[in-house]
Amino acid sequence: MKFNLNKTFKVLNKKEGLKGAIKDLFSNDYKYVKAVDGISMNIGVGEIVGYIGPNGAGKSTTIKMMTGVLEPTSGKILINGNIPFKKRIINTQNIGVVFGQRTQLWWALPLIESFKMLKSIYKIDDDTYNNNLKLFNELVDISSLYLKPIRQMSLGQRTLCDILAAFLHDPKVIFLDEPTIGLDVSIKSKIMTLIKELSKRRKLL
Ligand SMILES: Nc1ncnc2c1ncn2[C@@H]1O[C@H](COP(=O)(O)OP(=O)(O)OP(=O)(O)O)[C@@H](O)[C@H]1O
Ligand SMILES: [Mg+2]
Repeated sequence: MKFNLNKTFKVLNKKEGLKGAIKDLFSNDYKYVKAVDGISMNIGVGEIVGYIGPNGAGKSTTIKMMTGVLEPTSGKILINGNIPFKKRIINTQNIGVVFGQRTQLWWALPLIESFKMLKSIYKIDDDTYNNNLKLFNELVDISSLYLKPIRQMSLGQRTLCDILAAFLHDPKVIFLDEPTIGLDVSIKSKIMTLIKELSKRRKLL
């Protein structure tokens, strides 16, 4: 199917200095940045798809539209049958997201408390929650990190936890935007294996 997805940002041409900043408040001097230009793709159940392109190509912008954070300028997106920015709450239950550049876990909270918060936010029932923690522990030893606050974790540990957190509510689709950014080769491959294994066990993505 042709979805022809586009996103153009309207950005102010900023002027220099304090005077410029004040002038900017009343300025109509805009430029348009085409971030996503006519993308169409179909992804089926069980597929793992990599979305590659140079810096600034529009990958993150596409993911933000697919997760409902941004509204497309034109074109259409259906995620599990829903238009993400119109059905944000339903879409959120259906998806899991990791933006490698920042964590979605609570900085000061121990990992297990973050998991409990997610359990309550996504209304995850006890069985699903316990089964998922069991599965996570079969794949990686995270119980040793349960009591560690996120801010005390290494980048690799935090990323592992972020990925597991994205799978906790049994979402149908997972979006990962540069989940292995800044990580060394061994943990990169560990994370790739973990993602493949989670998707296989849960028959999703
Ligand atoms: N909120 C915004 N306002 C204005 N322009 C934006 C905004 N977000 C992204 N852009 C521009 O849109 C283009 C695509 O950015 P995007 O972040 O989607 O690229 P990317 O493919 O994820 O790049 P990278 O590999 O560096 O993460 C860039 O030119 C960027 O400057
Ligand atoms: Mg990006």
